Amino acid sequence: MKVAPSILTVDFCRLGEALDEAIEAGIDWLHMDVMDGNWVINRTITFGPALIRSIRDRVGPEITIDSHLMISNAEETWDQYVNAGADLIICHIEAVEDFPTLIKKIHESGAMAGCVLNPDTSEEEVIELLPDLDLVLVMSVVPGKGGQSFIPEVEKKVRNIRKAIDLQVKNGGKTTKLMIDGGVKDHNAAMVSEWGIDIAVVGSGLINDRATIKENLESISKSLET
Ligand code: DX5
Ligand code: ZN
Repeated sequence: MKVAPSILTVDFCRLGEALDEAIEAGIDWLHMDVMDGNWVINRTITFGPALIRSIRDRVGPEITIDSHLMISNAEETWDQYVNAGADLIICHIEAVEDFPTLIKKIHESGAMAGCVLNPDTSEEEVIELLPDLDLVLVMSVVPGKGGQSFIPEVEKKVRNIRKAIDLQVKNGGKTTKLMIDGGVKDHNAAMVSEWGIDIAVVGSGLINDRATIKENLESISKSLET
């Protein structure tokens, strides 16, 4: 299972150094949590395309950058994140009216398309979209901020989506990636890996005052070995 840092808990004055440190430690995927001050329940504003552009310029072309859009108008503004250098655009199923058309447009732009579900959203709709999706993201916290507790009840949904992806691959379809986001730390990383997660987003478990990014990544990697 791959780990993709979320930068929400970083001191933004230290962002460049934190990115260098994460990449030095072996990270090759960065998760960008975009909130517009409207869509998430606590009305948080994080950052937008300008920061993603700076991050792309800093890390170079080899690192995968996804944009997790927790915004009201993703259908109108997703292309700004592609233009800023994001490889993958992840939109909430709860926030988009016409998901099939959105996927088509994202693919036409050359980017990859992902769909994210809130903890209490059922997997049914996303399973219909699966053949065209590059990634499905299951939220294991209510979107809005870093540092929340993991919601274990998402297990069944993760396993169902895993099963559907495996069947799709067996039938010659796309290898849609499965990602989880929220509350993943060294103590539960092995569990979500066993559920069949390909990529875990880790924010506060990676960027915190207790240890360096490298040390935190090492303790997650160690927990995945056992
Ligand atoms: C929540 C964000 C997450 C989250 C990850 O709205 O999508 O990416 O902040 O941070 P941790 O790992 O601290 O839950
Ligand atoms: Zn996220």
